[in-house]
Amino acid sequence: MSKIPHVIPYQGSKRKLAQQILKQIRFNNIDTFYEPFAGSAAMTIAAAANNIANRYVIGDKLDALAKLWEIIINEPEKLISDYSQLWKNQLDNPKEYYFSIRDHFNTTKSPTALFYLIARCVKNSVRFNSDGEFNQSPDNRRLGMHPERLKKQALATSHLLKGKTKIFSGDFQDTIKNAKPNDLIYFDPPWEGLTQNPRYAYLLDYESLIEELKRLNNLDIPYLLSFDGICGNRSYVKELPDYLNLSGISLNAGRSTQATLLGRAEITFESLYISPALRNKNSLLTNLQPERTSYQLALFS
Ligand SMILES: C[S@@+](CC[C@H](N)C(=O)[O-])C[C@H]1O[C@@H](n2cnc3c(N)ncnc32)[C@H](O)[C@@H]1O
Repeated sequence: MSKIPHVIPYQGSKRKLAQQILKQIRFNNIDTFYEPFAGSAAMTIAAAANNIANRYVIGDKLDALAKLWEIIINEPEKLISDYSQLWKNQLDNPKEYYFSIRDHFNTTKSPTALFYLIARCVKNSVRFNSDGEFNQSPDNRRLGMHPERLKKQALATSHLLKGKTKIFSGDFQDTIKNAKPNDLIYFDPPWEGLTQNPRYAYLLDYESLIEELKRLNNLDIPYLLSFDGICGNRSYVKELPDYLNLSGISLNAGRSTQATLLGRAEITFESLYISPALRNKNSLLTNLQPERTSYQLALFS
């Protein structure tokens, strides 16, 4: 796990759950692995590190983030050099510099400026106002990812994904429109938006997600969906229609940062839904790879 690179420090990243999620795929002959709500693309990076697919497609509706992915994968040296410059320039007055880069980003939508903001903002948590302007504050206790660390992580990520990854800027439906039954899609939509606590640039249109899942089921295209969760006694569960025929399992995501800050020893559980087409493929291949076993918990089944 420690060898898997992690380049964008993004709140909500699936980095820590990636191995648990990959265990739900018990075969390695995937043609294209899609991650249409990419964020930090933790699942794509883990999938590529485990060599589970021939090609990868990542997409995000936040255009500057999709462009940042282009640079990370195809021109990592440029990102490293531009970011190092920003990081050094901030040292005299980090707080004032952060706000100047935030203004710069809101005017230019520069992907490198976005990376600097994500790396330096409070809890690495991107926030936008209703005009689409980045409005998160700086974390004044930290200077953001050290350029040497970025260098290591970006080069390793590029090494894994260059030459076999396509990047889309736009809605998840467009990113996956060419998916086929030999592919696999991992969805991690911004379900927090359903609780009226918007975090990302865009909220989820629940109906269009359900329509898309229905379409994929009809075409026998396998997918995994991270959707809701439980932290302490608070539940963020949103019903998914029975006719989608999904099986839900519960993954232990460890202690939530928020709960730790508040001194509570609460464990977060996140649910993961497995599509009927993926279940079928898994059961056909279980005998070939018995070591990649699933653990179905009663909670969501
Ligand atoms: C929960 S985060 C994904 C986190 C990701 N799994 C990771 O490991 O970092 C959801 C992402 O979906 C993007 N997004 C929101 N609505 C979208 C849409 N309709 N189509 C594509 N991407 C969308 C957001 O910009 C955000 O980056």
